[in-house]
Amino acid sequence: MCGIIGIAGTKPVTDRLLEGLKRLEYRGYDSAGIAVIEKNNHVSGLVRRRAKGKIRNLEERIELEPADGLFGIAHTRWATHGAPNEINAHPHFAGRVGLVHNGIIENFTSLRDELKHTRDFVTQTDTEVVAHLIDEAMKSGLSGKDAFAASLKKLTGAFALGVVIDGVDGQIFAARRGSPLAIGLGDGENYIGSDAIALASLTTRVIYLEEGDWAVVTTDNVEIFDLNDTPVKRDITIVTGSLAAAEKGNYRHFMLKEIYEQPETVSHTLTHYVDAFNHKIKTPSELELKDLDFAKIERLSLIACGTAAYAAYVAKYWFEQLAEMPVDVDIASEFRYRKPALIKNSVAMVVSQSGETADTLAALRYAQSKDLQTAALVNVMSSTMAREADFALPINAGPEIGVASTKAFTSQLTALLSLAICAGVQRGHISETYEQKLIASLTQMPRLIAETLTLDDDIEKLAHDLSKAKNAFYLGRGMHFPLALEGALKLKEISYIHAEGYAAGELKHGPIALIEEGTPVIVIAPTDELFEKTVSNMQEVSTRGAKVLLITDKEGARKAKGMANDILICPDVCVETAPIVYAITIQLLSYHAAVHLGTDVDQPRNLAKSVTVE
Ligand code: F6R
Repeated sequence: MCGIIGIAGTKPVTDRLLEGLKRLEYRGYDSAGIAVIEKNNHVSGLVRRRAKGKIRNLEERIELEPADGLFGIAHTRWATHGAPNEINAHPHFAGRVGLVHNGIIENFTSLRDELKHTRDFVTQTDTEVVAHLIDEAMKSGLSGKDAFAASLKKLTGAFALGVVIDGVDGQIFAARRGSPLAIGLGDGENYIGSDAIALASLTTRVIYLEEGDWAVVTTDNVEIFDLNDTPVKRDITIVTGSLAAAEKGNYRHFMLKEIYEQPETVSHTLTHYVDAFNHKIKTPSELELKDLDFAKIERLSLIACGTAAYAAYVAKYWFEQLAEMPVDVDIASEFRYRKPALIKNSVAMVVSQSGETADTLAALRYAQSKDLQTAALVNVMSSTMAREADFALPINAGPEIGVASTKAFTSQLTALLSLAICAGVQRGHISETYEQKLIASLTQMPRLIAETLTLDDDIEKLAHDLSKAKNAFYLGRGMHFPLALEGALKLKEISYIHAEGYAAGELKHGPIALIEEGTPVIVIAPTDELFEKTVSNMQEVSTRGAKVLLITDKEGARKAKGMANDILICPDVCVETAPIVYAITIQLLSYHAAVHLGTDVDQPRNLAKSVTVE
């Protein structure tokens, strides 16, 4: 997660860019930079100042070497591709183009290969190639605007961009695909920013770009185009009230905002575990897990509560399939009381968003008392679990305010899948070619999540029906069985509709008695080797009157045509990462059902965000 701000101004911009960057520092702070179009004696030129570390360092740099102008962009970085140093800091320059970027350009390697004979690349980032693309397009005769639009078409990934071009002063180009970007409307000036917080001191009038939008921002005009380059009008939101309200942006609830943050939060998690530039999973020593040797571990105990436990259940499949590592999953409140038979060379890994959940913490301490090596996979790195475990592993999802866990869940899954790949490589079960394939699948996830979010309107309609139900069932096989459990939990906790998740093959052993005319059954089944079997189970409930919603992909929809009442088609995704992408659909389904019922979505009854009692 990086932060972007830009000003098309009538007054000098540098101080204001720095002020905006400070507000964005929560999004990333391993380097920062600004680029402005300076005008001296009627000669204009693009200049930049960058510094490693906090924004303070950039300020000091600018004090020593001032730079100012009326147009500028700025960036605070959370490194994804390439070390956090000044060379990799944004803005990146290529010819006349200065560019800031948030997110991941998935196809940067192939684009770099296409350009490397004619262009000099100086950074290890995925970003630099975009600046070259735009500059190259202008060299072929396109205007700045057309070059920007043409370059966007060549990019795959989830990203937000801000661009200034030397000689095209007066215009800032901006684009949003998968990562957030807002436009601020000022008095004789206009702005771009990662969120309303960045723009808070500049304006209260904000346009949130929609997925695929791009824009040309000048001092007195904002032109917005959609994915097909058609000019569009977007609503203006007046951002008022407390900072907390501003943090919600134009989302009605924190939960919805957090669902929509997932292209970014997942890429944030990946940054920690994947060396995206070299297409490799990071080794335990690169992850600062000095003494952890997956090759020597005989058993992994994953211990957690609630949603975190369902992430652990999914991970069991990954560790077993990718690393052939035996895995136990325990509900934390049961772990120590069942007096588990623990074996010496095992690692106990607790999974917890907060890192403070009482049962999980007690399980961690119990494992330590039995001399097991312990690890804590947490979102809050200052938490008790992170401090007490032998190894602390971050998920980097950022603060989760909504009580129902959403972005922490997908980040837990992403971190656990990465660790399973790391274990598979260390245990010799993953070849180099397979590792590269898995890394490609991981880096595609932010984009695929963004694509899945575009199903929101369809899901909202489906949720209307679901909200009328008294009971609902979620079915899945393999890794989608725990996802079914999570789907049911999400629905119960925020909509108060009774819901159960089952392994699709298990229903006929009893619970099928509960199926009656109109009972909603949500079947999670991407096309994989278990698809046909899940479809058979789906038909078993269908013939007993269930109202079936099948969540699948194009191929699944084709195969199951006419067999489900409704089919929701997700993007094609590889089998290993499917649970992470499919998680978005069940989150949105519960969210809209709850909103329709008018419950308190962010603070559902009887629940607390961090459960610090046993
Ligand atoms: C459900 C939910 C809870 C938590 C559980 C564990 O949406 O949020 O089930 O997952 O209370 O909390 P952490 O992960 O903080 O240990």
